[in-house]
Amino acid sequence: MSINTTVIYGSARRARQGLKAARFVVNKLEDRGHTVTLIDSEAHELPMLDRMYKEYDEGEAPEAMETIASALRSADGFVVVAAEYNHSIPAALKNLLDHFQKEYLYKPSAIVTYSAGPFGGVRALVNLRAILAELGTPSIPSAFPVSMVGRSFDDDGNATDESYDKRIVRFLDEYEWYAHALKHARVAEACGSDIPTQQAMCRGA
Ligand SMILES: Cc1cc2nc3c(=O)[nH]c(=O)nc-3n(C[C@H](O)[C@H](O)[C@H](O)COP(=O)(O)O)c2cc1C
Repeated sequence: MSINTTVIYGSARRARQGLKAARFVVNKLEDRGHTVTLIDSEAHELPMLDRMYKEYDEGEAPEAMETIASALRSADGFVVVAAEYNHSIPAALKNLLDHFQKEYLYKPSAIVTYSAGPFGGVRALVNLRAILAELGTPSIPSAFPVSMVGRSFDDDGNATDESYDKRIVRFLDEYEWYAHALKHARVAEACGSDIPTQQAMCRGA
């Protein structure tokens, strides 16, 4: 069963470094055969939260929100790439995550954190787990902290330290296990349903 993964990254800083880590994750997922979409907060003109996506009538949400909603809806799971800002996550990432709700449900997430220093954003990790649980996308037990993010990858997302290439394997093995397990469960439920959209998911699986 193929896996569709949406990678979520949010930082509004002009000198931001985390896109390199996000690209590293995208490359590794593609190497494993995933269909991958990267949602980068800066690629979309998402305002600070006024109305959530669900508060718009169908077809009335701004284009940026529709694009992101579609990427979240079609995903079987998420990898969230988060910097540590004052022991929590960037406002741009939180704003992006908060706009959506049911698009996350019954799908796993995996957490990649990073920082400029040696601790790899592990304090943001603690916060992000709680946020993702509340959003309905429980995070897998393992996480992937990245220290010295500015020099750990080149601009195309290639690791300059080969330990990252090794470490990511078990992390993504674990993520795939949960992504497959929950996809099986969603498809099984869809196949027993008489709702047309559910039946379509059953046929498309
Ligand atoms: C507002 C702000 C707060 C930060 N707070 C922390 C922190 O609490 N712990 C830490 O290790 N690094 C901290 N940093 C360093 C960032 O983790 C590092 O600059 C990282 O590259 C930011 O991600 P970005 O480049 O994708 O925006 C902070 C950076 C900023 C801009």
